[in-house]
Amino acid sequence: MSFNKEELITLDKTHVWHHLTQHKGFEPAIYVKGEGMRVTDIGGKTYLDAVSGGVWTVNVGYGRKEIVDAVAAQMMDLCYFANGIGNVPTIKFSEKLIAKMPGLSRVYLSNSGSEANEKAFKIVRQIGQLKHKGKKTGIIYRDRDYHGTTITALSACGQFERRVQYGPFTPGFHVFPDCDVYRSKFGPCADLGVKMAKQLEEVILSVGPDEIGGVIVETMTAGGGILVPPEGYYETMREICDKYGILLIFDEVVCGLGRTGKWFGYQYWNVQPDIVTMAKGVASGYAAISCTVTTEKVFQDFLADPADHDAYFRDISTFGGCTAGPTAALANMEIIEREKLLENCVTMGDYLLEGLKGLMEKHAIIGDVRGRGLFAGIEIVKDRATKEPIAEAVANAMVGAAKANGVLIGKTSRSFRELNNTLTLCPALIATKSDIEEIVGGIDKAFVDIEKKFGL
Ligand SMILES: Cc1ncc(COP(=O)(O)O)c(C=O)c1O
Repeated sequence: MSFNKEELITLDKTHVWHHLTQHKGFEPAIYVKGEGMRVTDIGGKTYLDAVSGGVWTVNVGYGRKEIVDAVAAQMMDLCYFANGIGNVPTIKFSEKLIAKMPGLSRVYLSNSGSEANEKAFKIVRQIGQLKHKGKKTGIIYRDRDYHGTTITALSACGQFERRVQYGPFTPGFHVFPDCDVYRSKFGPCADLGVKMAKQLEEVILSVGPDEIGGVIVETMTAGGGILVPPEGYYETMREICDKYGILLIFDEVVCGLGRTGKWFGYQYWNVQPDIVTMAKGVASGYAAISCTVTTEKVFQDFLADPADHDAYFRDISTFGGCTAGPTAALANMEIIEREKLLENCVTMGDYLLEGLKGLMEKHAIIGDVRGRGLFAGIEIVKDRATKEPIAEAVANAMVGAAKANGVLIGKTSRSFRELNNTLTLCPALIATKSDIEEIVGGIDKAFVDIEKKFGL
């Protein structure tokens, strides 16, 4: 596509309102091309993208003609019809997805992670009305987790900075403690997962089990600091939910579709969810699609005599009827299978973590390196012994320095002012050994630059 660089920058500054951006004094970056693991900016500089499109999305990499061709052909066959009516790609994609999620059976399509979670909340609320005489409509969420940007999704948000100035929020949401192993108040112990999960029970009991219908968690916390819960955590949480008749909802918006080396992150634990939501990697950003997937039991709760006007799930999402989403999602899954990207994600993820852990010997400000698959975090601290977080300005400078060295990385931002100190990495699942080495090398150099700049 031809363009005039200066004109585009001026037009961007004149008309575009960017996400999460303070525009005062803002100079836009503009990307014009993506190929495999790399993106090129308007000035012709190419970067190794270690954040899959900035927000853990482009799981199979850029420039996948196979997805584009499938979507183009489907657009000519049937681009859209409201989802009350069936269409071929939605049926085929749903079947393929459910085959990867034993114990689940129904797929509800919408457009974004926030929306997929809103559906899950509405399902919980409505089951409370249909089956529990109006009780059990409350929902518990976990500190440091994020579930989306709408007011109700923010009502379930464990990240203070995302919520501030957007209240009042939807009532009926309650919080329980995070799953941060590095900063856990329990310290290292064999039954850490059980202890951490039991904190959920305390909140259920304090609110009242009759009030609570659902618990939502990011299977592994992403923007809140790359937190992987310990062994036994979700098994214990499942037992607690069963004890009190509570639906367990896994937000797999980030972890789903291979990001951590399995189709879904929860599959690392021996746990059966009631509802799973997903978005970003579902179609790797080639089309907008999100899914709320439920068990047959949840679905059956909505079956009733048609004369009962209110008993069915009275929800619609206009663009849940776009066929581009499921077409791209189906092609995306076929690529993940054919190219064995789950296996690659495990191998390259281990290699990435090993490389990042190696950097700890050289850089004393690295407090912790953690993750699973190609989902990794580097927590930066002032002092390893006290774990005092580094100033956010230093973490921000690290992102800038890595970019200057040709590698795009992320960080926890606008989450919690005192803990916006974790660098985040989520390269596409196609990453090779040399890509990983380039990422680790770029970060290593960035640490050297920053230590010099801030005298650390
Ligand atoms: C875990 C998680 N859930 C939900 C969302 C919201 O997704 P969306 O931005 O598509 O609404 C996000 C977005 O970053 C997320 O990280």
